[in-house]
Amino acid sequence: MRSVSNKWAKTAVLQKKQDVALHLPPMRPYGLSGLGKMLDLYGRVVAKPVKGSGGGGVLFVGRRGQGYYLKNGRKVRHYRSLAALRGGIDRLRRGRKYFLQRWISLAEIRGRPVDYRVKLVKEGSAWRLKALVGRMASPGLSVTNLAQGGVQLRGADAIRRSLPSIRAVTKKREMTRLAYTCTRLMEEAFPGIGALGYDFGLDRSGRIWILEVNTRPR
Ligand SMILES: Nc1ncnc2c1ncn2[C@@H]1O[C@H](COP(=O)(O)OP(=O)(O)O)[C@@H](O)[C@H]1O
Ligand SMILES: [Mg+2]
Repeated sequence: MRSVSNKWAKTAVLQKKQDVALHLPPMRPYGLSGLGKMLDLYGRVVAKPVKGSGGGGVLFVGRRGQGYYLKNGRKVRHYRSLAALRGGIDRLRRGRKYFLQRWISLAEIRGRPVDYRVKLVKEGSAWRLKALVGRMASPGLSVTNLAQGGVQLRGADAIRRSLPSIRAVTKKREMTRLAYTCTRLMEEAFPGIGALGYDFGLDRSGRIWILEVNTRPR
């Protein structure tokens, strides 16, 4: 079955439809100008390998006072200048191609960020929803991947515990509808794909953000 590993390419497909694009965090290639511009605009950015999985190599960057911080797993380093920050990222990047995404303030359960995996599988000619589960990060981490100690929760439980004022059934329906819309675009761009796993985040206001699209979901 066809799979697509380039995260930049997969996300770019979803930019094509306006009502999907508004759920995409702004992105830029990791280049000379991108990091400074993104930090000026949003204060916090995520740097990700273009080809990565399991939360590996995902770096979290923010402004702090006059300087910057860089979070890699539970390790946090501080830098006084953008050039020094860039040096810190480059040491961890080790030549791999990266891109930048706005760092969304995900809703949390007791300080632990939560996101959602929405899995669709093609059966015959129809796509079916196979799972909508929540994942809560291991304490101190910003990635929720199960491979990094994240804990899986029922979707509705994750919503109720991280966003008590939001109606779980409504939000689940909204995430499901968005996943089906994304799937039409993905299939058009990458004919032959048979399974899709979306990483959706909900921010503190309950807005859905498309963090990643997986073509080989577990
Ligand atoms: N833009 C973002 N804002 C906040 N958290 C993010 C963002 N992007 C990723 N994350 C967190 O990092 C995890 C791993 O990132 P992801 O892009 O899914 O890479 P991987 O392919 O390694 O799973 C996500 O599940 C989420 O918990
Ligand atoms: Mg992921």
